[in-house]
Amino acid sequence: MVRAIAILSGKGGVGKTTLAINLGVALSRYGRHVIVLDANPHGPHIAASLGEHKPERVLDEALSGKRHATEVVHLHPSGLKVVPASPRHDAGVMGLDKLGMVVEELKQRTELVLIDAAPGLEAHARAAMQVADDILLVVTADLLSTADALRTIKMAQDRGKGVYGIVVNRYHGDDADLDVASIQTLTGSQVLVVIPEDAHVRKALRQRQPLLAAYSDSKASKAILRLATLMSGTLPQDPTRAPEGKQEVVGRVFKVFGR
Ligand SMILES: Nc1ncnc2c1ncn2[C@@H]1O[C@H](COP(=O)(O)OP(=O)(O)OP(=O)(O)O)[C@@H](O)[C@H]1O
Ligand SMILES: [Mg+2]
Repeated sequence: MVRAIAILSGKGGVGKTTLAINLGVALSRYGRHVIVLDANPHGPHIAASLGEHKPERVLDEALSGKRHATEVVHLHPSGLKVVPASPRHDAGVMGLDKLGMVVEELKQRTELVLIDAAPGLEAHARAAMQVADDILLVVTADLLSTADALRTIKMAQDRGKGVYGIVVNRYHGDDADLDVASIQTLTGSQVLVVIPEDAHVRKALRQRQPLLAAYSDSKASKAILRLATLMSGTLPQDPTRAPEGKQEVVGRVFKVFGR
């Protein structure tokens, strides 16, 4: 079955967007068909992170019914397919109830939809959780981030969502407040990968490139590739749908990022 996984965090700024973009690139490299959707209207960072500050054809137009979901999918030269959100300050107010419909439309065209969610538990984060099959939590190795993640996990479980696992990001090694075992105990969930604090992440961002495109050998890239390997092995594959889906999405892409 095609899945939608929402990348959530209790605390903001822990690395959801970085993970969404680079996991998308990594899985695409492994031949998996992924669409990364920017569902954080208050911090719509996916397009800007890829050098597109005023994207045309954005999620909001699909939410308002102006365009079909496949018309707002963009192809990045790295192979990543993304649905950007509008950078307008008043965007994202309407159409939350249509997010599920848009995700379902995208699921018809791909194997996996990765949703880059808003932080915390406000309406946009809850909407992303609601339309997802599973959630993937990003935490930093400290008590507050982990405690906030636990609240998100509890809410997801109350809604019958699966917890795909936890990604510990910006890990400082011995300097970290919590070790991996403690994070697993506190959240009752499995830590899938630990991504180290890595200066290449910011360097890639300054270049408006995915980390995996700019610094494929960096420690953070390698950790994200490990996660992609794990996911690629566990995610169901739909060999009949994927090639057709790829063709259809690319055929409708109106603009290639960065060109
Ligand atoms: N492993 C890492 N090493 C170093 N810096 C990182 C790492 N991961 C993310 N960052 C930096 O942390 C900052 C926040 O990352 P990001 O925007 O991905 O977080 P977010 O969870 O999406 O934030 P928000 O909650 O605002 O949407 C960025 O400046 C990013 O470059
Ligand atoms: Mg973000």
